[in-house]
Amino acid sequence: MAAGRLSFRNITALAPMVRVGTLPMRLLALDYGADVVYCEELIDMKMAQCQRVVNEVLQTVDFVAPDDRVMFRTCDREKDRVVFQMVTENTRVSSGLWEKDVAAIDVNMGCPKEYSTKGGMGAALLSNPDKIEAVKASFCFHAVHLFQLEETVGLVQRIEKTGVAAVAVHGRYTEERPRHPVHCDYIQAVAQAVSIPVIANGGSLDLVKTHANIEEFRKVTGASSVMLGRAAMWNMSVFSSQGPDPVEKVMDEYLKYAIRYDNHAFNTKYCLCQMLRDKVESPLGKQVQAAQTNAEISVAFGLQEFYLQMQEELQARRDSLQSDSQPDRPIIDGDVTTMAVKFERRKYPPQITPKMFLLEWSRKEKLEQPLYETVQRSQDRAFQSTVTVAGRKYRSSLWEKSKKFAEQAAAIVCLRVLGIPEGHIGEKDSSLVCKRKREGKMNGSLFKPGGGRSTEIL
Ligand SMILES: Cc1cc2nc3c(=O)[nH]c(=O)nc-3n(C[C@H](O)[C@H](O)[C@H](O)COP(=O)(O)O)c2cc1C
Repeated sequence: MAAGRLSFRNITALAPMVRVGTLPMRLLALDYGADVVYCEELIDMKMAQCQRVVNEVLQTVDFVAPDDRVMFRTCDREKDRVVFQMVTENTRVSSGLWEKDVAAIDVNMGCPKEYSTKGGMGAALLSNPDKIEAVKASFCFHAVHLFQLEETVGLVQRIEKTGVAAVAVHGRYTEERPRHPVHCDYIQAVAQAVSIPVIANGGSLDLVKTHANIEEFRKVTGASSVMLGRAAMWNMSVFSSQGPDPVEKVMDEYLKYAIRYDNHAFNTKYCLCQMLRDKVESPLGKQVQAAQTNAEISVAFGLQEFYLQMQEELQARRDSLQSDSQPDRPIIDGDVTTMAVKFERRKYPPQITPKMFLLEWSRKEKLEQPLYETVQRSQDRAFQSTVTVAGRKYRSSLWEKSKKFAEQAAAIVCLRVLGIPEGHIGEKDSSLVCKRKREGKMNGSLFKPGGGRSTEIL
């Protein structure tokens, strides 16, 4: 742990929870009064392969895996409060990558899952105190499993000597399940035996149901601090000294963060389903389960206007960042010509698009039909298209919010570079697309019968 930045004395913390401890949940926990928030456990080897990307659109720092998945997303708001939980067995592991983005690092010695233990990580570390001592000092440990009392106390004392900042103790044995009562007396014995802060954990099911119970749990365990897992996952307002909020309000607040930070929809669904608990089969629960995108989830919660407004804000930020940084002239690199161009629908008559103009021109020139290839980047799911015309490629350096818009932008680049009319309002009339087509009156391969939404086709 980066000592000095974060104190583990007399705090309440959101426990590390796989799939739950992502950015929107962590921010929600801070809003409701948690002092410290742990992220979900992340495997050190996977993190080492990630690239650190400053996401200027979302105003976050993302750690992006080689397959483009965002493994860890964080933001300034939580910088001094977020604990990065790592699953590791590497005694030389370096925290350099995350050091400047998080307040502390926690080594998980509790994960009983096979993928952790067979690599000597997670709970397997507990039975290898030599290794624990060798894992870099200045970490904070989250130990889940208890052994016999003397063994547990002895182990935590050894951990203390490594110079860690705190130890979170989940008062259950390896073979016990979360439904078993927590052993407060064990946590108390550990708390009495060491001088570093002990964070009591494991009380969600039977002991901590309200904010007042947090203090009771702290007292009964004699611990310095309290960490909550499930009680917080079910209703984050348990951290609030103002009393609980109805879970419906908590879900709304959560969803707003999920939309604002472009949280992966499957993760959003998972967290909402944990909050719905026994209502997961209710009509709302079924709607959430059926949804595939954050947009669809927002409809289930009546937050579609918030969703649209947020998309507009993010797009405006994306546009201004892009236009600030990109020159408006073609850059040629090999067979690719790039230009900073955006497709602005309002600049074209309803039936006309640049793609349509490019297609007509290619036909007139007896060239092959333009070929569009589109990619989507993970950090903001924006699109970029490349169009191939007469063996050369054209693309816009500006990323668009949809595949259709990205294709139109690529078409504009090609048209501008080749000096071909693109069909926007106020442009000198060209004969490329005839008047009847412009008005959408033709039934042909280009237009839907009745002159319908031709832009759908192109
Ligand atoms: C959904 C879920 C995911 C969890 N993931 C992790 C994890 O990633 N790392 C970890 O050390 N513990 C993990 N745990 C254990 C919790 O951090 C905590 O120790 C446990 O839930 C007991 O606390 P509680 O009674 O307050 O829930 C997880 C627990 C739950 C319910």
